[in-house]
Amino acid sequence: MAKVITALSVSVDGYITGRNPAAGRGLGDAGILFDWYSDGDTPSTAFAGFTLSKPSARVFDTLAERVGVSLCGRNTYDDSGWGSGGTPHPNAPLVVLSHRPAPQDNERQTFVATGIEDAIAVARQQAGDKDVALMGGGVVTEALKAGLLDEIVLHQVPVLLGEGRPFFQNLPEHVRLQLLEAVAAPGVTHLHYEVARSHAR
Ligand SMILES: NC(=O)c1ccc[n+]([C@@H]2O[C@H](COP(=O)([O-])OP(=O)(O)OC[C@H]3O[C@@H](n4cnc5c(N)ncnc54)[C@H](OP(=O)(O)O)[C@@H]3O)[C@@H](O)[C@H]2O)c1
Repeated sequence: MAKVITALSVSVDGYITGRNPAAGRGLGDAGILFDWYSDGDTPSTAFAGFTLSKPSARVFDTLAERVGVSLCGRNTYDDSGWGSGGTPHPNAPLVVLSHRPAPQDNERQTFVATGIEDAIAVARQQAGDKDVALMGGGVVTEALKAGLLDEIVLHQVPVLLGEGRPFFQNLPEHVRLQLLEAVAAPGVTHLHYEVARSHAR
């Protein structure tokens, strides 16, 4: 069965944004979190214009090839400026989870208001045999609580941001992880975990 994964750039103190993220300024004052997308000389095979270090390109493109649908929370959608139909992945449509009134669905975007289980079900249907990639600390935490997240990748950037939106919000219990791979690359360490079986679906 296709998997539900998340792979986000995160500071060592656990933030996926810096201070004051806002529309069109999705990382707030922490643009440093995405520096590794462009600090090498190996072009990404999945994302035009990205030139990464060789070890980062392998990790990044391997993950990108797995993605059939992106699923984000409303804050990621708003802050990333995808209101005009944009998507985070060049070959994958986007599902957005929100309580708020949302735009009409369009060819590349589907809006879900009835919770994480429904959003993941819609995303799975669209993804076929590919994986669903979650974006946003809110949806990642909801999926963990529901036992629906299979894998977590921290693209961990060596910085302490001190404040921002966290990758993981409050959880009611511990979630055990198993390390699948750790790759040290220039400007980032890629930590790939599997969510322990008792918490996965
Ligand atoms: N560093 C990276 O790699 C990276 C990647 C992606 C995004 N980002 C940034 O990270 C930030 C993510 O924001 P965030 O952590 O607040 O999370 P988020 O998951 O993007 O959005 C959370 C919002 O999604 C909606 N939502 C969540 N669970 C829901 C549910 N069960 N039912 C209905 N709606 C639900 C709620 O919006 P409403 O109730 O308001 O509708 C909630 O406030 C953004 O600023 C984005 O730019 C960083």
